[in-house]
Amino acid sequence: MPDWDDIFSEQGKVFTDPHQDMERIAKLFKERSVRKILDIGFGTGRHIIFFSKLDFEMYGFDASPKGLSLTKQWLSEEGLSAKVMNHRMEERFPYDDNYFDAIISIQVIHHNKMKDILFTVSEITRVLKKDGIIFITFPKWKIKGKRDDWKLKEIEKNTYIPQAGPEKGLPHHFFTLDEIHDVFSSFNLLEIYDDKGRHRAILGVKI
Ligand SMILES: C[S@@+](CC[C@H](N)C(=O)[O-])C[C@H]1O[C@@H](n2cnc3c(N)ncnc32)[C@H](O)[C@@H]1O
Repeated sequence: MPDWDDIFSEQGKVFTDPHQDMERIAKLFKERSVRKILDIGFGTGRHIIFFSKLDFEMYGFDASPKGLSLTKQWLSEEGLSAKVMNHRMEERFPYDDNYFDAIISIQVIHHNKMKDILFTVSEITRVLKKDGIIFITFPKWKIKGKRDDWKLKEIEKNTYIPQAGPEKGLPHHFFTLDEIHDVFSSFNLLEIYDDKGRHRAILGVKI
């Protein structure tokens, strides 16, 4: 089954520039005196590098060994350090309660079935401080026709597995707006919007 580890092994650093809204998010983090940030599913490290350069204390995990080695290499090339590791988001996060000031996750948490997504969000809530900030993106509701070539097969309500294409075999959950409110009910959602990459972004504060 191809997965992101294969994609990174074949293509290297697939994403290099930060998400288009990260400058604004970093400014908000500074205004709110954020120090420790967790990046869930950091890929090949673009946001680990971006925030480390701005002097935030960066932590992250990702399921991909190749993603981890490319991130470590990039950190070393830049003379930066961050606490990065391999870990899966459907397993208990290896951090204490109320540890982080902010958590980001860009195009990651939808790669699971709802039961596991709920667990991931409960872990996000556990390791984030009260008034801590989340900035999370995931794909918008399946655009009709857009993914026809992926031959998406529905395996549970709103969760699909592509039968073809680069992400063949990987679950993709497409959140409805109602689900976003339900799943993130322990957060005050300040913003829910479509970003320029045609993904849905949420910005919230832990209640
Ligand atoms: C679309 S990439 C995004 C990478 C990165 N967030 C970025 O914006 O550059 C999805 C990432 O999610 C990671 N991922 C997928 N399933 C995961 C899981 N169950 N636990 C942890 N990471 C996972 C993949 O290894 C991959 O790095």
